[in-house]
Amino acid sequence: MTARLEFGESFTDHVVLLTWTAETGWESPPRVQRFGALPFSPATAGLHYGQVVFEGLKTYRRRDGSLGTFRPDAHARRFQQSARRLAMPEMPEGLFLAAVDAFVARDGGALPTDDERLSLYLRPVLFASEASLALRPAREYTFLLVGFVTGGFFSDRADPVSVLVSREYARAAPGGTGEAKCAGNYAGAFLAQQAAADAGCQQVVWLDPVERHWVEEMGGMNLFFVRGAGPDAAVVTPPLTGTLLPGVTRDSLMTLAAERGHGVSEERISVDQWREECVAGVITETFSCGTAALVTPVGRVRDGEHDWLIGGGEQGPVTKDLRAALSGIHQGRAPDAWQWVRHHPHPAGTRRVVSSEQGAAGRAGR
Ligand SMILES: Cc1ncc(COP(=O)(O)O)c(C=O)c1O
Repeated sequence: MTARLEFGESFTDHVVLLTWTAETGWESPPRVQRFGALPFSPATAGLHYGQVVFEGLKTYRRRDGSLGTFRPDAHARRFQQSARRLAMPEMPEGLFLAAVDAFVARDGGALPTDDERLSLYLRPVLFASEASLALRPAREYTFLLVGFVTGGFFSDRADPVSVLVSREYARAAPGGTGEAKCAGNYAGAFLAQQAAADAGCQQVVWLDPVERHWVEEMGGMNLFFVRGAGPDAAVVTPPLTGTLLPGVTRDSLMTLAAERGHGVSEERISVDQWREECVAGVITETFSCGTAALVTPVGRVRDGEHDWLIGGGEQGPVTKDLRAALSGIHQGRAPDAWQWVRHHPHPAGTRRVVSSEQGAAGRAGR
């Protein structure tokens, strides 16, 4: 039994870092040094003007004991898109992957070999490190990658979460930074997250910023709705309108759901429609998805005086099946048909010998 791990509170021993300057471009290869305090100027531009973008991706321990990182290339590309939106330099994909490889090679061994629920969360961040308060894009940036072992965002298990629809606050604006993974988006969301907690909910649900009508996403996750049941069930997710984050998990689940024969569509669903279709039994399940929380059922929604359960507040079968399908790929129990996993050599001393149950486990993971 593993002790409860608080998300992002306790880090592994190393940090990968490199710099970019207007004169010299990207430093390569990345450096690896011990995790610890870094010197910074009180005039660090990123602190003042918020030129900060980040990513979140995970490395998993696979059945054969090796380590694999899920879709780091997709995260590298989103990191570039986020940087572009904030007028920051775009880190080459190969350099991003080199930083991931360097980190996993050094600290991957921190991931226990005997608990499949655990994963290594990697947090790359790029920030304006020039000591200047000039109101323009900085001319120097620092990239850091830190990591920690985690059991998940909400908990190790897929217990349904309760969510509060935020009517007071908006996360993003048309033409704004909603589709970028930049630090300011998260700072702006904390108050709404607090309001959700005060209302007894674990997460906030964001509506579109213009009509305040359409369901967009959650605090750190995308949303899916399931209509119908059984093999004919269809999954629906809000379209990428520019005000929500294009999740890597969202993209992966759309592929997996289609492969499993479900109808898959991007469709705007209003919050009233969400409630009415749940009450009428048309929407049978809702789940959130993201790197941190994987696939998590939404069991209960609060919106002003409205308060409703989805699927009786329990995890539904489509949610469960998609969660199992995704973790089967993460953990090497299911074939990786899309080559989503980047494989790393075994860090010293962590190899685990697994028995012949692999074939059966592969099928069970589907
Ligand atoms: C606001 C927001 N939406 C959605 C997601 C899900 O994205 P991903 O599946 O790439 O982790 C995240 C997490 O990164 C997020 O912060």
